[in-house]
Amino acid sequence: MSGYPLIRMRRRRATPGIRRLLQETRLHAADFIYPLFVRDGRGVREPIDSMPGQYRYSSDTIVKECERAHKLGVSAVLLFGIPSSKDALGKSGYDPNGVIPRAVRSIKKALPDIVVITDVCLCEYTDHGHCGVLEKRGATVRVDNDRTLPLLAKMSLAHADAGADVVAPSDMMDGRVGAIRAELDRRGYARVPILSYAAKYASGFYGPFRDAAGSAPKFGDRAGYQMNPPNVREALAEIALDMEEGADIVMVKPALAYLDVIHAARARFDVPIAAYNVSGEYSMVKAAAQKGWLDERRVAMEILTAIRRAGADLILTYWAPDACEWIRRS
Ligand code: PBG
Repeated sequence: MSGYPLIRMRRRRATPGIRRLLQETRLHAADFIYPLFVRDGRGVREPIDSMPGQYRYSSDTIVKECERAHKLGVSAVLLFGIPSSKDALGKSGYDPNGVIPRAVRSIKKALPDIVVITDVCLCEYTDHGHCGVLEKRGATVRVDNDRTLPLLAKMSLAHADAGADVVAPSDMMDGRVGAIRAELDRRGYARVPILSYAAKYASGFYGPFRDAAGSAPKFGDRAGYQMNPPNVREALAEIALDMEEGADIVMVKPALAYLDVIHAARARFDVPIAAYNVSGEYSMVKAAAQKGWLDERRVAMEILTAIRRAGADLILTYWAPDACEWIRRS
């Protein structure tokens, strides 16, 4: 071989133009869903310590943030509510004048085109912080699956009534997609799709979110309803069940430590797949970047591209507005 140029694969990487031409995976602004936190009050824009660059907004300031994101190219947002009152049954979660319905109305009024997705779960609204209502059996306390379903259906209805475009149940109760679908259909919302958090793992990566939403369980953990991290076949069973019950879009969550699950779901199912680049995945990069140990933009784009490459159609990410800007400037 001596005397012959050995260069072969490297020809495909020789110039920025060639690299761009041969790029297999591309990110687009339309892939992103931007999660946002809404609380009571007016004029509030409260920084979240555990998630640098993210804020708790009131229903007026959130409109401004949606306008800013929309201008950058973000076409969908996901709303989480932080209510001022909590109780055992999470009543503030299905109040038609609760924090989410009010925010949905004001966003849809100002920006009718933006797709407003609402998170449906009790944990932000219950005083015990669990994703469903509790049942006591002697000394043990458990989350009661079947008694939780009507409450989730009621919450979905309150969100649809306010104008939510999509509802996204994240509680991991069995049968909730079917219960929500039936209620929405019965009440004239057959056209409102369900984005199901189908394969949601009991993950340590939700830490910063629980701080942001004040939704950490007051006792125990979520391992009795969220999935066990080592399992992948079980994730496929969860997704198949949710599809049977009427889920229109299915989600894998978290994303980064579960790329194999996204990939397996993509290979198996012909349904739009979303992946949630969760709070911990965001905040660990932010923290390292603040120390000067990582280049935030470079690492964030690498992560988002990996999630896309694994097979996700949609990515829920706190970087959504930044990523739109980075894509435009790249
Ligand atoms: C509510 C919910 C959680 C997240 C989304 N919806 C927290 C949890 O299950 O404890 C986490 C999102 C994130 O970490 O960015 N059930």
